[in-house]
Order: sequence, then structure tokens, then C-alpha cells
Amino acid sequence: MRTPFVVGNWKLHKNVAEAQALVTELKNQLGAIRDVAVGVAPPFTALWPVARRLEDSHLVLAAQDCFWEEKGAWTGEVAPTMLADVGCTWTLVGHSERRTHFGETDATVGKKVAAALKAGLGVIACVGETEAQRDANQTFAVVDAHLDGALAGGAPPLDRFVIAYEPVWAIGTGRTATPAQAQEVHAHIRGRLRERLGDAAAAAIRIQYGGSVKAANAETLMRQPDIDGALVGGASLDAAEFVAIVKAARPRPA
Ligand code: 13P
Repeated sequence: MRTPFVVGNWKLHKNVAEAQALVTELKNQLGAIRDVAVGVAPPFTALWPVARRLEDSHLVLAAQDCFWEEKGAWTGEVAPTMLADVGCTWTLVGHSERRTHFGETDATVGKKVAAALKAGLGVIACVGETEAQRDANQTFAVVDAHLDGALAGGAPPLDRFVIAYEPVWAIGTGRTATPAQAQEVHAHIRGRLRERLGDAAAAAIRIQYGGSVKAANAETLMRQPDIDGALVGGASLDAAEFVAIVKAARPRPA
């Protein structure tokens, strides 16, 4: 059984006071839920104060990105060891916004994944095609290339490696993938994991869906057999909406 994992990617939102208020609300409302793993990914500037609020909580703290070196002349970068130092246990890597706007490539994603795992962090590796790539029937090829990039450093620890399938055309657009569209790609990713890492790894690694997930569409998405949680952007900025998504991800008897 894979424990569903729901993470709120706050992107470029929330100052320290706002972040503390939101995470306190989440902690209060999600305290009793133990059958879904829940995380938040605030901006770097809010990681330390949010970590303090989460000290007595089972919610986990994730960064939105990390660098691949531990120290040196790399102005503006943040090392995975530094993220662990302030209380992060996870980091996103390879989000499509990093790929589109900041030159992230499969090669840099591979280096970041390896460095983050080495620092003891869990990694949420993001994969997903653009609309033009989907229209050109390249979805599986693109997702395979992203996945191969993330796995370039070798076989990851299964409990600390998560894939987030985020079709770029569904991010921030209100155009969620249909449950069938998402399931098709998730099943493909699991097949690819089986080829690359074997049956046990494919059965254990969680694959989140991301892209316009809201309370209203979460339940049908989460019911798909290969969808193991969600990476939530906009809807994670609102406590009630995010809590409802977490509840929709709870495992239910078939
Ligand atoms: P939205 O939920 O706002 O579409 O963003 C998804 C995402 O990019 C999460 O990482």
C-alpha cells in the first residue's frame, strides 16, 4: 500500500506572517489525519519560521528547489544541506516553471536529485508535457526523458523519491487533466519505473498528480489506481480548499 502524499506548492506567495498563519491553520485542521502524508512547500524566506511551527506536527516541510553543490561561489543558490539544516525533509526538483523560466534541464535535474538525496532529503521530481508536445503525441517520450533525467544518479531510496506528473497545460489554467488522461500517463510512468528499477520499486514509488487540482475535482482524480496524491499550487494557498483536497486523498475501501 502506498500512503497518499499531498503537498502544497506555494510558489511565490506568502510572507513570513502569512505563511505562519496558513500553516498553523493546516496543522489545526489536519492534526487527526494520519492516512495521508501532507507537506507544504513555502518560499525559501518562510522555511525557517514554518519549520518552527511544524515542530510538533506530522506535516512535512519541502523546499521548491535546491542546488546541486554544498558550498562555494554560487551566488543566489541554496544547498540541500542548508534546507535540511532549517528543517526541510523534502524538496521539489524540476518543476516546469523552473524548466520554462530558469533554464532547468534534465541534466541539472539529475544533479539536483542526487544532491538532495545525498543530503538526506526526499525528492519530488516533476515531469510533464506542454500542450504542443501532447498535440504532437510526444507525451510519453517527454515524460520518459524527464524521468530518466531525474534517475540519472542511480536507483533512489523508495520512501524518499516521489514523481509529480504535472501536465504544463493544466498548471494554473483551471484545465485539469481528466482522471482518465492523468491515469493513462501515471500508468505509463509506473511501467517505466518497472523497466528502470524493477517491480518492487514500481509498486512502492508514489506518483502525484498536479495541475489545477481543487477540492471539487480531487476525489475522482485520487480514485485512479496509479494516482497517489497531489501536488497542489493555487488551491494550497487557501486552508479550507487544501484541507478538502487532503481529505479527498484518503484511502478508501475498493
Ligand atoms: P496549480 O494547482 O495552481 O495548477 O499548480 C500546480 C503546480 O504547479 C503545483 O506544483
